[in-house]
Amino acid sequence: MTITIQSLNKRRAAGTPVTMMTAYDFLTARACDTHGVDMILCGDSLAQVCLGYDSTSRLTLDEMIHHCRAVARGASAPFLVGDLPFGSYFRGPNDTVAAAVRMLQEGHAEGVKMEGGIELVDSVRALTRIGIPVMAHVGLTPQRHTALSGYRVQGRTAQGAREILHAALALEDAGAFSIVLEAIPHELGAYITSRLKIPTIGIGAGPWTSGQVLVYDDVMATWLGHKAKFVRRFADVRGEVQKGITSFVDAVKDGSFPSMEEESYVWVLSGCVAGS
Ligand code: KIV
Ligand code: NA
Repeated sequence: MTITIQSLNKRRAAGTPVTMMTAYDFLTARACDTHGVDMILCGDSLAQVCLGYDSTSRLTLDEMIHHCRAVARGASAPFLVGDLPFGSYFRGPNDTVAAAVRMLQEGHAEGVKMEGGIELVDSVRALTRIGIPVMAHVGLTPQRHTALSGYRVQGRTAQGAREILHAALALEDAGAFSIVLEAIPHELGAYITSRLKIPTIGIGAGPWTSGQVLVYDDVMATWLGHKAKFVRRFADVRGEVQKGITSFVDAVKDGSFPSMEEESYVWVLSGCVAGS
């Protein structure tokens, strides 16, 4: 079933958790599609886990678009959101519209995600007005990791919690169709979810949000970097990768691959024929 904003709202109303995962390429998107993920995020975590940059702020809009378009080819049922990268949406609504239009037109995303609070209200309104679905993102906003002195839990003080709540309410009012809550106390995740009408998607925001998102490489344990407290590794793909690569290397070196019987072609009188 194709996921729409309406079906996401229905899941929220019915108390059915929404599932979201990141994908950065065609095959991963196809796997998410096949195995029942509701929403795919072509996230700017692309920068670290796929392209090897040291932070998301290195990623350009062109790089994002290139990956998002590949993801779109594999994502038919899930709702596809593309992250607007750092620097592509802070000069006001006109720039934001230009970047978001490129994400839809060239990146083939269905909606865009932006990190930030009330300073984004005008931009969210501008996008919503022209029919571009916006997913907001509050709490820990990794694009600002330097200003935040690292990837730290947000909203632990009364003042911090109030700011995040007010931002969430203002972004919903500006037209955001959903919002990511990242790395906040579970009580705040639950309270914001109870105050909003749009689905909240948590990552380190406790079990009472409308849905959960994780980075693909955290789920699969292919990412070797820091493991945040909110990450659960659901598979050991790194172990499988190691097995596959070392087995290939060993088999070539010891002469057991390719075998004459299974993986080699034979000479026949009419010539060298494939497939026999
Ligand atoms: O870029 C990303 O992967 C994200 C999430 C995990 C929310 O923004
Ligand atoms: Na992101």
